[in-house]
Amino acid sequence: MQMFCSPSPLASLAWFAFLVGASGQVSNKAQWRGQPNRQAVKARAETPVIKNRSPLENFRFLDSATKPYQVTSLLGVAYDIGEMYSGLVPVDERNKSRALFFVFQPTIGPPVDEINNLVKWRTCSLEGFFQENGRFLWQSGQFAPELNPYSWVNLTNMLWVEQPVGTGFSIGEITATSEKDNAQDFVNFFLNFQNLFSIQNFKIYVTGESYAGRYVPYISTAMIDRNDKTHFDLSGVLTYDPCIGATDYTQQEAVAVPFVLENSNVFGLNESFIEQITALDKSCGYAEYREKHFTFPPPGIQAAEFYNYSIPHEAECDVWDDIYYAASAVNPCFNMYLIVDTCPIPPDVLGFPGSVEITTPGLPIYFDRADSLPQVIEHTNRVLVANGDLDFVIITNGTLLAIQNMTWNGKLGFQEKPSAPIIITEPDLQYEGTVGVQHYERGLMWAETYLSGHMEPEYQPRTSYRHIQWVLGRINQL
Ligand SMILES: *[C@@H]1O[C@H](CO)[C@@H](O)[C@H](O)[C@H]1NC(C)=O
Ligand SMILES: *[C@@H]1O[C@H](CO)[C@@H](O)[C@H](O)[C@H]1NC(C)=O
Ligand SMILES: *[C@@H]1O[C@H](CO)[C@@H](O)[C@H](O)[C@H]1NC(C)=O
Ligand SMILES: *[C@@H]1O[C@H](CO)[C@@H](O)[C@H](O)[C@H]1NC(C)=O
Ligand SMILES: *[C@@H]1O[C@H](CO)[C@@H](O)[C@H](O)[C@H]1NC(C)=O
Ligand SMILES: *[C@@H]1O[C@H](CO)[C@@H](O)[C@H](O)[C@H]1NC(C)=O
Repeated sequence: MQMFCSPSPLASLAWFAFLVGASGQVSNKAQWRGQPNRQAVKARAETPVIKNRSPLENFRFLDSATKPYQVTSLLGVAYDIGEMYSGLVPVDERNKSRALFFVFQPTIGPPVDEINNLVKWRTCSLEGFFQENGRFLWQSGQFAPELNPYSWVNLTNMLWVEQPVGTGFSIGEITATSEKDNAQDFVNFFLNFQNLFSIQNFKIYVTGESYAGRYVPYISTAMIDRNDKTHFDLSGVLTYDPCIGATDYTQQEAVAVPFVLENSNVFGLNESFIEQITALDKSCGYAEYREKHFTFPPPGIQAAEFYNYSIPHEAECDVWDDIYYAASAVNPCFNMYLIVDTCPIPPDVLGFPGSVEITTPGLPIYFDRADSLPQVIEHTNRVLVANGDLDFVIITNGTLLAIQNMTWNGKLGFQEKPSAPIIITEPDLQYEGTVGVQHYERGLMWAETYLSGHMEPEYQPRTSYRHIQWVLGRINQL
């Protein structure tokens, strides 16, 4: 099984080279974990640092307290980076041994009193910063960083945070034993962060991808529970391809076979294998499960499902893994995050472009199964859940099936089947036309994205830009 929906402390060494090279202040402030990969450092060392500063006095958040965190140049980035800060802020000011690493980039558009927290972006938040929604993107196959016309920095103040403690460059003893502990650490960090940057009365947004499907609701709930509008005025939430509920069952196994049939020309699997998995889809009860529960409105709550791979019958029903291995035999570069990828694997500065097993750092996968997303929807009435159709890790229909088992604002699931198109008509650089499906009920916006893998802002930046505009309340439909 791909231990996908588990927290991962994947510390990217390339990041170390990149940000240490970036700023002496950051490296002084931050007590970096780990050593840089020599090759990575060497490769970066050959790239000149090009500085082109704008006048510092116009920077909204710059003062004597924040100056040590200011990033004045980024190795390999030939653009004016504008106002940007990075470093470590402790969870507890009285004991600074545990601290979270952040990158803060205020909006380049008109100033707004709001801040968007990115709490997890597939492997780590820095992946989001540099490969998905940041201002300078260094994606797979790109020789050098390039400006991102769809950066969310255009719209709002962005804070990428490596959390929980133990992830990436964040430091300290892992003391959390539950998602709730992690959420408290984050909220404490965020209060200290706001104090450092003299932030008060901002609208707060929380966004994340994949495993963040678990972090985002907990962190959001912890904010709501503080009952402190000055610092935690939670106003909207967005999650991409998120783990919701019984992920292994609902978002993978129960929907894997139809996914393969719909995408048969991409998977290229042989007839006997297709017959075999189609038979399992029936005998293991998945077909019946979908028929019963994948309806609008749903007939009732779905019985608890826990996928236990050690039980022989369940292991036999692990069609998701069967498909994964068969697909990898046909296409050795099969990428479960973007099924249309083929060989060669493009070079990637973060070293993690596709299917790599993510390990669990000492925490059980699920410590508390209660999903707090409904509470967050009820509080903000502005939550967006999106899923990319080329993602085999978190399958679109599975996420929708998980939503059909969620009760919020007084009802179970969506009452109507999503069908309204998302159409982009503005003349733009890319992706004009019908790009997906949208559906809104009782504070929850669902967005299916057609030509996207798992990392939506990377594959469909134009569409993701729409999503975040909606979450920020700038538009009322996608
Ligand atoms: C600070 O916190 C760490 C981690 O919880 C703990 O091990 C250490 O003893 C604390 N230090 C002090 C001075 O309390
Ligand atoms: C974002 O801002 C940049 C710089 O001002 C601009 O070139 C770009 O068109 C903006 N993108 C969008 C989608 O408005
Ligand atoms: C998703 O579910 C719909 C039924 O609502 C079905 O028509 C479609 O084929 C499914 N897509 C995939 C990829 O399984
Ligand atoms: C459906 O929701 C109920 C109630 O929250 C929960 O107990 C059950 O485990 C869920 N079933 C699945 C398959 O997620
Ligand atoms: C999974 O099944 C094995 C074998 O029956 C059992 O020992 C184990 O406790 C089960 N795990 C869970 C989490 O239920
Ligand atoms: C069909 O695919 C399966 C799964 O990869 C493989 O085990 C089997 O040998 C293939 N059969 C033929 C006839 O190619």
